[in-house]
Amino acid sequence: MIRIAPSILSADFACLGAEAEDVKRAGADLLHFDVMDGAFVPNISVGFPVLKCLRKATDLFLDVHLMVDRPLRYVERFCDSGADLVSVHVEADTPEAIREALERIRAKGKKAGLVLKPGTPAEAALPYLDAVDLILVMTVEPGFGGQRFMDDMLDKVRAIRGWIDERGLDCALEVDGGVDAETAPRCIAAGANVLVAGSAVFNKPDRAAAVAAIRGA
Ligand code: DX5
Ligand code: ZN
Repeated sequence: MIRIAPSILSADFACLGAEAEDVKRAGADLLHFDVMDGAFVPNISVGFPVLKCLRKATDLFLDVHLMVDRPLRYVERFCDSGADLVSVHVEADTPEAIREALERIRAKGKKAGLVLKPGTPAEAALPYLDAVDLILVMTVEPGFGGQRFMDDMLDKVRAIRGWIDERGLDCALEVDGGVDAETAPRCIAAGANVLVAGSAVFNKPDRAAAVAAIRGA
């Protein structure tokens, strides 16, 4: 099953709750919540108070993508603020601290995800396959919405799909960045089953048609 996760980065933040409900009606399966700290990435977005308010405004599954240095400091607060899944970048700290962050997320009863930037090889995910519910392959450099999809990331998606299937793991495989109706079929063919799409959903007048087109329905 393919799940579509609109990214809030392209939503109208002045009415985020209504935007969430709108994409839910449009057929979104989860909502992708991008957190940027101005250090791990050269941009700043939103944090705990916004997530808490959004949690009250929607029952959509909240997929929180932390583009944050040393996320171990914050993962439990994101869980307590309403995240259903929290994902951390493998590049954001030492292997020990990343593993500890993933364990703390699961100890909170939430799902844990690991994210790979474009320059990070697929193999970087291998030590964590037992510790995650989702792997996110970035298909743009993290930091901004509306960038061009990097086709050369599809080999990474294929490699990770191979490991997940070989080992029979219950692990979702997500792609994020530049995903639209044109690039989505290539992501799905490579083995992704959760597709993040910001501008390709929120910037479209008919969001239901946009979600359906990305899903390939
Ligand atoms: C990029 C973010 C993405 C972004 C996707 O740093 O992690 O989630 O919002 O936006 P689009 O789909 O417009 O590339
Ligand atoms: Zn994201």
